[in-house]
This record gives sequence, C-alpha cells and structure tokens, in this order.
Amino acid sequence: MERIIINGGIPLRGEVSICGAKNSVVGLLPAALLAEEGVCVIENIPGISDVSMMFSILESLGAKVRNINANTVEIDSTNITANVVPYEMSKSLRASYYFLGALLGRFQNAHVAMPGGCDFGTRPIDQHIKSFEALGATIVTDDEMVVHATADKLIGSTVYMDVVSVGATINAMLTAVKAKGLTVIENAAREPHIVDIANFLNAMGANIRGAGTDTIKINGVDKLHGCSYSVVPDQIEAGTYMAAVVATGGKALIKNVTPKHLESIMAKLIECGATIEEYDDSLLISREKPLVRCNVKTMPHPGFPTDMQPQFTALLSVASGVSVVTESVWDNRYRYVEQLINMGAQISVDGSIATVTGVEKLRGTRVGATDLRAGAALIIAGLCAEGTTTIEKIEYIERGYENIVEKFSALGADIKRVSIPDNE
Ligand code: EPZ
Repeated sequence: MERIIINGGIPLRGEVSICGAKNSVVGLLPAALLAEEGVCVIENIPGISDVSMMFSILESLGAKVRNINANTVEIDSTNITANVVPYEMSKSLRASYYFLGALLGRFQNAHVAMPGGCDFGTRPIDQHIKSFEALGATIVTDDEMVVHATADKLIGSTVYMDVVSVGATINAMLTAVKAKGLTVIENAAREPHIVDIANFLNAMGANIRGAGTDTIKINGVDKLHGCSYSVVPDQIEAGTYMAAVVATGGKALIKNVTPKHLESIMAKLIECGATIEEYDDSLLISREKPLVRCNVKTMPHPGFPTDMQPQFTALLSVASGVSVVTESVWDNRYRYVEQLINMGAQISVDGSIATVTGVEKLRGTRVGATDLRAGAALIIAGLCAEGTTTIEKIEYIERGYENIVEKFSALGADIKRVSIPDNE
C-alpha cells in the first residue's frame, strides 16, 4: 500500500506542465473503436491508471494498442469483432460506459456492465439509455447489472437531455455518428472534453456540428477511419495546481493549458486574492495579497466545474472570512469534508451547501482519500497545513493525476510517496 506524506507550509514556486485531459481521453479511446480502416494515433495522453485500464479493455476487444512513447499511443481497431467488455474491467471505472456507445455505433451490438467509478451519490445512466433508445437500440439490463444494447438499424433522431450530462452527451455522439440521417442532441453538455471528442470523431470522418453549444447536430456516415490527434489540456489538473499555488501563497508558471477553458476557475481564484498573467498556452499565477473568502456554485461548463469543488473548498478553509460552496451537479460530493475537519477546518454541510469559516492554519494529521478530487483536496490541505499530513488510499488520486507527487515536489513542496506494509 502507498501513502503520500507532506510537510506543509511551503509556498509553491516554479513551473508545472499540464497533461492531456483525463475526461477527454476516457472518451477518445473508446471512440477509436469506430475506425474500421487505418489506425488512430493519439498524443498527449496522461499516464494515469484509468488510461491503462482503458487500454486493457481495448485489447480485450481485439484492438491492437501500441505505445509509441510515454504519452502517445497507436490503436488499430480494424479487425475487432468482440462486443462484450469483460465484467471486472467494466466495473473498474465509470467511463467504461463509453464502450456501449462506441460498440453500438460500430456493431449495433454492445454488452457492458454498469460502471463503477467514484462514490459520491447516485450515478444513473438513464440519459445514456434514453439516447440509445432514441437512435433505435433496445436496452436490457440483466440482474448482474450488465447493459445489453442491440439495434437492427441506427436511425438519426432528436434526443433531449433531461439533465445536462457529459457522459450521456458523449455516448449519444458515439452512437449517432453511424446512425442513418440527422441526430440532434438538445440540452447537450458543453465541456471542453465534449468539443475534443467531437473534433476527434470529425477527424475520423464523422460529421458533427455545434459541439460546445447546447445543441449538437450529427449527420451519420457509413464508415469512420483512423486519424492523428492530440488530447486537449486538462482544465481540472491545471485548476488543481493553480489552487495549490494560491492556497500556499506561491508563484508558478502553469504550462500547456488552454486559458479559455480556465476562465471560471481563474475568476474565482482572483476573487480570493490571486494575480494571473495569461499567455497563449500558459499562465503565471501568484498570491501576494491575503487569501480572502468567496462564494462558489458548481455548474456545467462554462460555469465553475464540480471537479474543482473539493480542491477549492480546501483553499477556502484557510481563507479569511466565511465562504459558501454550493454543489449543484452531484447530490453528495462532500464526503471529503470530514477529513478536512480532522485537519482543523471549520466547515458545516447542509445538503448541497457547505459553509466554510476560514481558519489561520490547518494541522497535519492522517487522512484518507474518498475519491479522486477529494484526494487532490487533501494534498492542497496538507501543503497548507502546519506539520505532517499522511494521505492514504492514494490509488484514487493516481487514477487522474500523472506524477502528482513529482510535480508538486518540483514546485518546492516537501512531499513524498512511501510504501507501507499492508498490515500497518
Ligand atoms: C463526468 O461524469 C466526469 N467523469 C466527472 O468527473 C464530472 O464530475 C462530471 O462529468 C460532470 O462534469 C468522466 O468524464 C469520466 P454527468 P459523468 O453525466 O458523465 C446526472 C472526475 O473527478 N445524470 O455529467 O458521469 C448525474 O447524476 C469525475 O474527473 C443523470 O441523472 O457526469 C449528475 O447529477 C468525477 N442521468 C449530473 O447528471 C444520467 O444518465 C451530471 O452527471 C447521467 C447523469
């Protein structure tokens, strides 16, 4: 078992390079299955455990996956015939449900167990199923929670999303690119990774317009082919390092980012006292002024991202004044708060609202990550805290952050990853 150990109180200084977006690449990799001729070469892939699992699923379906270098992969799906994702693999990550859309698009036949993933409230897929059925599929979920999707023919249709859903929007696109005629997705999600996956599919020969708006139009095509593509920078990884620099009162150059995707995060950090200079593909962020409170409400893009909520709450826990955090996307994304309270934070949660009364200092102690972004929040808290913070269950963090310990260490943090015997 591994733990992260941090001795806090050091302002972060230096520069950090951001990877390709996890929530884009976990959609791009299943999308590569739609290429019936040629290969997909995808660059700027983050070295994270969710990606490794995705590669294993692709290979289990008969695709050939070849690592060209640490962050570039070639996928050859020309000869795949399987359409069943192994049960244990499906359960190991939420994004496995994208194989439903991709295999339905490729073969009109897909069998994938309901996904696992982070545990913060119910994570239904009714909008995914609604999309598949609108395009002509029959969906049966068996008592082992395996979803079976089959269609004689996929026919373009209008899909109105009852809730703005990143996953359902992506899954609807993965199926609609091969459906006959026009598909219109109304009330679509607008995240940067939606645009990234639409651009990738268009590079494969699809005909998608309007990604990034709430209405996406797709004219089905007969066949998709391979392409070369580079994953969009990860707005949440970037936001995590930006929040850590501001929380510790440091100064750092954040490289390989798309500033336009960081507007809501930058606005909130500036409200808390940060100074930011924007460049084409990087930004210089610092905080010399006192860290002050602000209110934040998570919303679908272009609002403040829910995947930054835990990290930002950790920052607010040492900002002077009272802040109100409202989580409007997930119904239970405050499980990590008790860990921050163990470090001396003063936070009260009532439903979707967390009220944070800033304290002078957090104190280091032993805490455990409850999910990916909660783990990132605990790292930020540990970097600000007095004394030593030990973080357990870091496998959650490793799912979505490449070399997080090395990157924070390069920014001057006193942080290390240690192996502990399992019985300790
Ligand atoms: C994606 O999850 C991300 N995961 C999540 O990031 C992120 O929090 C979320 O989008 C919102 O941005 C991946 O991309 C792998 P949703 P997803 O469908 O697609 C409800 C991280 O930390 N809903 O946009 O599962 C749902 O309950 C992870 O990187 C339905 O009701 O999220 C939620 O309240 C955590 N029915 C809301 O919509 C559905 O069929 C948004 O969910 C689907 C969703």
